[in-house]
Amino acid sequence: MSRFVCQLLLGLLLSILAASMTPAQTGVVENALPKIASGDSLKPSINGTRVTGTTPGKPFIFMIPATGEGPLTFTAKGLPSGLTLDSKTGIITGSVKKAGSYVVSITVKGARGQASRKLKIEAGDHKLALTPPMGWNSWNCWAGAIDDAKVRAAADAMIKSGLAAHGYQYINIDDCWEEKRGDDGEIITNARFPDMKALADYVHSKGLKLGIYSSPGPKTCAGFTGSYKFEEQDAKTYAKWGIDYLKYDCCSYGEIVRPKEPEDFKKPYRIMDKALDSCGRDILFSLCQYGMGKVWEWGEEVGGNCWRTTGDINDSWGSMSGIGFSQNGHEKFAGPGHWNDPDMLVVGMVGWSANLHPSRLSYIEQVTHISLWSLLSSPMLIGCDMTRLDQFTTDLLTNDEVIAISQDPLGKPAGRISDNQGIQIWSRPLSDGTIAVGLFNTSQQDAEAAAKWSELGIEGKKPVRDLWLKKDLGDFSDQYTAKIPSHGAVLIKIGKPTVTD
Ligand code: GLA
Repeated sequence: MSRFVCQLLLGLLLSILAASMTPAQTGVVENALPKIASGDSLKPSINGTRVTGTTPGKPFIFMIPATGEGPLTFTAKGLPSGLTLDSKTGIITGSVKKAGSYVVSITVKGARGQASRKLKIEAGDHKLALTPPMGWNSWNCWAGAIDDAKVRAAADAMIKSGLAAHGYQYINIDDCWEEKRGDDGEIITNARFPDMKALADYVHSKGLKLGIYSSPGPKTCAGFTGSYKFEEQDAKTYAKWGIDYLKYDCCSYGEIVRPKEPEDFKKPYRIMDKALDSCGRDILFSLCQYGMGKVWEWGEEVGGNCWRTTGDINDSWGSMSGIGFSQNGHEKFAGPGHWNDPDMLVVGMVGWSANLHPSRLSYIEQVTHISLWSLLSSPMLIGCDMTRLDQFTTDLLTNDEVIAISQDPLGKPAGRISDNQGIQIWSRPLSDGTIAVGLFNTSQQDAEAAAKWSELGIEGKKPVRDLWLKKDLGDFSDQYTAKIPSHGAVLIKIGKPTVTD
């Protein structure tokens, strides 16, 4: 037999063999579309966070996230003095006069009925991010190619796609907007951002909030001007522009101080926290230093509303699962106002500007990603091109029952209950008296996973609901078992709510 025929036969044999193997056996995760609930109900519904915070006297903006067949009209009872609601857009603006905890009754009316829900407005010092921030950040899709038009397009798409109606509020500019300092020391934007104040006004006109990025060092990670020695002035400039969120990325600060002692890690963040406190505007403070010096142990102490716990994520199973499943143990340091941040979401069209492509995570892996990030109370910052959302990505990001886990007002992130041969069970208590449980299969084979009552600290017959399917599964005693594809997840809620709206 000639060499060519031998090769042909061998090739044929290998392809027959490969075809007869399951994707798990070949180590390739099949990119099958998982069954998840799709689309919004036509009936009105109020979504997203149930609690928001503000400092009395500082500007306040909050859009009530609501879905349902329109036109929708909004009313609110019990708004604190200083705030007004636009009944057509659902946007609440103004500035709260007096500190306090206000329970506001919101009603939304639409073509198919009405819905009511309570929104708590906490007015006082340090009341930002009472639930993890939700929104978009430019880095994972645009990186250095970000400009004013792309930020406006992201804000437009946040509304048009309906994502804002599920609670996504922040539109965050990452690195690469800075040019240099003027003679008076004020930071000047580069030509791609001709007017930052006008951009903030535009984003606010939609009921959304604008975020920006800087570094405590002289340079940002991409080599642009950082805030070192100009912290107070920068914070005031951000306030003047109308910025609502600052990601403060360590980067070149290492050239100023090589951190050894815990205080070395904390110092640059304390300085900016003080500057933000006195800048006249509420600006959410997001620490980014990749987990150095166990930031979760002191992020809250230096005023952080969230802190990155790891290096940069990318859209591979190794990166996402490596980061996500290593968060166990950090949960005890997070809570309302201060969250662990395992980095932004890598779903949809991502690519760091050079080669935008659909996330290389399989669909099943993306369900794992969003399930885990919701359980972890991670910030939910979408990293994709918002103008090119497909139906699957939209469904993944707008499941209100999954979002309700991320935004649960109790704010107790999940920890790992068990890990047996890659089958991991994570759980967290919820404010309504139930518990959320994630069943994950990180192994290479499809496998059965069991959430055991004894390990979850519960007893007796309990109703179980599948949150991705939005479906009651029935009552179970002792345990709930599910078959889970390799790299997949099932997210359930166990128990009967003891607290309702
Ligand atoms: C670091 C951060 C990223 C991004 C870039 C910008 O790598 O971790 O999230 O902000 O800097 O340069």
